[in-house]
Amino acid sequence: MKIQKFGFDTQQIHGGSHARNAENALNTPIYQTATFVFEDMDHVDRVMSFESSDCVYTRGNNPTLKVFENRMAVLEEGTSSIAFSSGMAAISSVLLSLLKPRDKVLVHRTLYGSTYNVVTKILPRYDIEFEMLNLTNIVELEEAIKDSSVKVIYFETPSNPNLEVIDIEAVCSLAYQYDVKVVIDNTFASPYLQRPLTMGAYVVIHSATKYICGHGDVVGGVAISRDDDYMMELRFDYMSELGGVMSPFDAWLLIRGLKTLSLRMDRHVENAMALAEFLEQHPKVTKVYYPGLASFPQYELAKKQMSGFGAIISFEVEGGLEYAKKVINAVRLAQIAVSLGDCETLIQFPAAMTHRGYNQEDLEMFGLSASMLRISVGLESIEDLIADFSQALDVI
Ligand SMILES: Cc1ncc(COP(=O)(O)O)c(C=O)c1O
Repeated sequence: MKIQKFGFDTQQIHGGSHARNAENALNTPIYQTATFVFEDMDHVDRVMSFESSDCVYTRGNNPTLKVFENRMAVLEEGTSSIAFSSGMAAISSVLLSLLKPRDKVLVHRTLYGSTYNVVTKILPRYDIEFEMLNLTNIVELEEAIKDSSVKVIYFETPSNPNLEVIDIEAVCSLAYQYDVKVVIDNTFASPYLQRPLTMGAYVVIHSATKYICGHGDVVGGVAISRDDDYMMELRFDYMSELGGVMSPFDAWLLIRGLKTLSLRMDRHVENAMALAEFLEQHPKVTKVYYPGLASFPQYELAKKQMSGFGAIISFEVEGGLEYAKKVINAVRLAQIAVSLGDCETLIQFPAAMTHRGYNQEDLEMFGLSASMLRISVGLESIEDLIADFSQALDVI
């Protein structure tokens, strides 16, 4: 399962599939089965003692899921990968597997809303502490990491919804000195644009619902690491026992989506760059958050650790919430919806939608205003997208 031999485009189509299926079908079959049959009790013993990697029950392993998992491991340059029923199943299972009562997790101050809820509301019920930091400022981390109860650092980069870019190598090298594990949500970048395991991360997580799928028809998640022993524990003690398993049909759709990941990402990024430039020069737009703009605070860092700037843009218009609502109500091509990474351009208010679970104080402290709009730039013709936002902004 090494990526070095082939390019990314080849690996997203072929990576990690070693054997032909029994019927020589070009596409991976959907093994829509809950259980698997043993030949005899010797076979049972071999499988149960991990001498054989044959499957037992789909809530632990399934051949269709294995192809998806192996491909994700190759694309992220990891050695093991586990599929989950959603990004949140992956995130909660990984956090629970790495933390125990009286441990502490350090998180970046902006996180996807449900992740914020897990960290700030659910983990404390199990006596797991958290601290929210500005991880774009490594000095804050240098101070916080001295606390010996810190066991995990968790962040998204770019972060949802304000696109803050965190220096993966700097965080990981500091974490390494203190024996702290770094877990990175790579959903916004996809493995095509950024591979955190190569920069020292311990686990990478995706909401596969987004760019990995690419078509908005699956809810799924995946975790990838280079620590195979840990991943065995994550699979059998957490994914399987807590039960957040992916369905074989969803794995099949994700294998299908992955084949065009790089092509889609190139177009997503190209469209996002053009739309961000259009918004930045528009007189009614007061602020644009997009790591590809030279005016963005972490532009240089994004250029260093990503091979493209992604396709999520957040922005503010003059007149605040009242006028931002007029804009969202006026777009025609862009659809008002949560989620991201689909072919369709989506627009939403994070404070009222994806990040509604944040408490008001945190929203204000972390600069997530009620009037911030977030766009997931799709694959439509860029002229049409610009025309759509242009007419919507004219409503102000
Ligand atoms: C950055 C990020 N991580 C994780 C998730 C959660 O993923 P899922 O909806 O697949 O559970 C989301 C969902 O929007 C997200 O944006």
